[in-house]
Amino acid sequence: MKVPFLDLKAHHAALIDKFDRAIRQVIESSAFAGGPFVERFEEEFAAYCGSEYAIGVGNGTDALWLALLALGIREGDEVITVPNTFFATVEAINRCKARPVFVDVDENTFTMNPAELENSLTERTKAIIPVHLFGQPADMDPILEFARANGLFVIEDAAQAHGAEYKGRKAGTFSDAGCFSFYPGKNLGAFGEAGAVVTNDPELRKQIQVLRDHGQSQKYYHTSMGWNCRMDGIQAAVLSIKLRYLDEANFLRRKHALGYNQAFAGIDGVLTPLEARHARHVYHVYAIRVQERDKVRRFLEEKGVDCGVHYPIPIHLQEACRGLGYMEGAFPIAEDLAEKFLSLPMFPELTEEEAEYVASCVSEAVGVEALV
Ligand SMILES: Cc1ncc(COP(=O)(O)O)c(C=O)c1O
Repeated sequence: MKVPFLDLKAHHAALIDKFDRAIRQVIESSAFAGGPFVERFEEEFAAYCGSEYAIGVGNGTDALWLALLALGIREGDEVITVPNTFFATVEAINRCKARPVFVDVDENTFTMNPAELENSLTERTKAIIPVHLFGQPADMDPILEFARANGLFVIEDAAQAHGAEYKGRKAGTFSDAGCFSFYPGKNLGAFGEAGAVVTNDPELRKQIQVLRDHGQSQKYYHTSMGWNCRMDGIQAAVLSIKLRYLDEANFLRRKHALGYNQAFAGIDGVLTPLEARHARHVYHVYAIRVQERDKVRRFLEEKGVDCGVHYPIPIHLQEACRGLGYMEGAFPIAEDLAEKFLSLPMFPELTEEEAEYVASCVSEAVGVEALV
């Protein structure tokens, strides 16, 4: 049997006529860059999240960068985040000429450990970016409390957490700004690149709207140096359709995660992800932890099971971050996770048969003495 890591074709097949109609509408109205389809999606996504505003942008990296920029993060500032995230979190900080400062994560939830924040605080610290990694919200209450006590902004990297909840409220809505990616493989994915910032702050919304459109407050009146980070009309029209099915898709992801958890219960050598008491995890990624991960991965690939590794090298040890001066051993939990993580096939249309096959191959892999 062959099991893909992700099957977007299957995900889109049932909705293809709706997409056709929606894209045709965009073509007929020529509203390609920004415009009414983007505005409609912004309203729908803000309402879905339970936030006052959403601002559609070009991708999730833009969302993070513009949120930081609009909050006034500049050269010389420090922004605290985690080393086990996608590189974009740190690129956005770097793009503002600010310095990323890392704190280690909790070994069970893989998200920012709030107890580590105190050690990383300096007089230059301006903001914190917790990452809702794999679809599990970080423990926001202590992070927000620390930020309040020290006058810091908080920006949530919710790029992997559409529809996830923390204490009953949607991820991305707890802080100054929540940043989402709609990269095609995400739980809510476009047909290309797209992203959004959600916020309750009307001033911040206005600033991001100006920054995403060349710093124009009105056409050809440039009040600040911005960039072109607009969302496409076609992406917005597609996202409006897919948003209606997001809860159902997340429900199915959770069902598959539960199935995997049950299949691995009692199997030595496979550590399954934990859903924190405060969280409703949406399993953008379902990552187990195994010894000799690369050998297990090779074994699974030979059996036709496509896997991923998120991420093989923590950011502080990436070549591009050498200048930050971090050494191996600086963040032992993030480093250990990077060695052991193995992401299994996870998408709403995964069949029971496929999931069972994946689980049996993993069990076989960790049971085999020498995986040469
Ligand atoms: C945690 C995280 N942050 C930021 C991003 C950046 O989003 P995009 O690829 O849409 O720029 C991603 C996307 O992969 C992500 O997973």
